[in-house]
Amino acid sequence: MDDHQSQPSFWTKLPRPFVGLAPMDGITDAPFRQITARYGRPDLMMTEFVSVEALCRGIPNALLDLTFDEIERPIVAQIYGAEPEDFFHAAQIVGALKFDGLDINMGCPAKGVAGRGCGAALINDPGRAVAILRAARQGLDVWAEGEALSDVAASILPLSVGFTPRRSLPLSVKTRIGYDHVQIRKWMNILLSERPAAITLHGRTLKQGYGGAACWETIAEAAEIARGTGTLIVGNGDVASHEDALNRVRETGVDGVLIGRAALGRPWIFNPAFCTDTQQTLQIALEHARLFEVLRGMRRFAGMRKHLGWYCRGFSGASALRAQMVRATHAREVECLLAPLQWAEVMTSSQALVQQGHPEALAEEYRLSHIMTDVQKIGLSGTLFVEG
Ligand SMILES: Cc1cc2nc3c(=O)[nH]c(=O)nc-3n(C[C@H](O)[C@H](O)[C@H](O)COP(=O)(O)O)c2cc1C
Repeated sequence: MDDHQSQPSFWTKLPRPFVGLAPMDGITDAPFRQITARYGRPDLMMTEFVSVEALCRGIPNALLDLTFDEIERPIVAQIYGAEPEDFFHAAQIVGALKFDGLDINMGCPAKGVAGRGCGAALINDPGRAVAILRAARQGLDVWAEGEALSDVAASILPLSVGFTPRRSLPLSVKTRIGYDHVQIRKWMNILLSERPAAITLHGRTLKQGYGGAACWETIAEAAEIARGTGTLIVGNGDVASHEDALNRVRETGVDGVLIGRAALGRPWIFNPAFCTDTQQTLQIALEHARLFEVLRGMRRFAGMRKHLGWYCRGFSGASALRAQMVRATHAREVECLLAPLQWAEVMTSSQALVQQGHPEALAEEYRLSHIMTDVQKIGLSGTLFVEG
């Protein structure tokens, strides 16, 4: 339980060690998180980071990025910005939207973010970092203690929020091990003085961007510094599998791990018991595409294409299929692209049934031949291979 809470936060109830989905802008949106929840069941998830400035101005996309489904719990909203006052309002909004926790991004190295004093730039501006954490905490307290919401927060939220039961949300930080050099002790002591529920450390400096290897020795040092403080340390960087995550925990003493890039096209990575073959992978790709269309709309389908590309890896014919999948404009097109694969597999079994005189097999072949005609009609047929 942290100082600020009367109830234990979800962080303290997580299994140990825990393995969660790292936030990735433009990737860990609601459709991806829901597919990940269905097949990977990670111990926690974070949204993509959302600008507090955009949120406070009521920009619809910022609010859209903060929609989630119950299946995603525990779900943490991640926000970024530079002005402490924006965090005060944004924290109230996040509380009212019923998230399980609030995370502040102090790790993004992108020019458009760090260049404006946000994200990893805060490592070099500790006074502002502390002011941000305090403002966010105050905003969460306003929400939890039933006080009147600030005018900014109230103007953004629907009236129905007035009936939402209020509860305290834990505050956490996701950051890096330094700005242009490793400065873990100094930075950790600053953050720990604000008693966050958890600190996620990506084992690279801002200057490193994504180059080189994440330094897990420094993450181990941070875990040692935090021991006994009540703040959990979550390691992050270059983790390739669930087994890899557990090894990192054993080697460094962190409480849990977040996996980012290794989950692309492999949302089941968090579930070691889940085995998939090409057919099932492509079925999940189609399910993801349909979900994307429902939650984000056909107009935004371009945002799904990169995921489709990531699903098409590591099997015979993957690159030919990928070349077509990354041009798909809606879920039905994905379905048609995949139909020849399903057709090839199901035909084998249905032909056997036809030979045995089963009338339902004839009906199935008729249905499949229509799907094939659809594929040819929209000019999408190509050389596709079924594995094996
Ligand atoms: C495309 C992309 C977008 C990212 N967006 C965010 C973000 O919104 N918030 C954040 O804290 N980290 C973000 N990250 C960093 C990841 O959460 C993670 O720290 C980093 O990718 C290292 O972990 P990995 O090696 O498991 O991918 C992003 C990374 C990538 C590749």
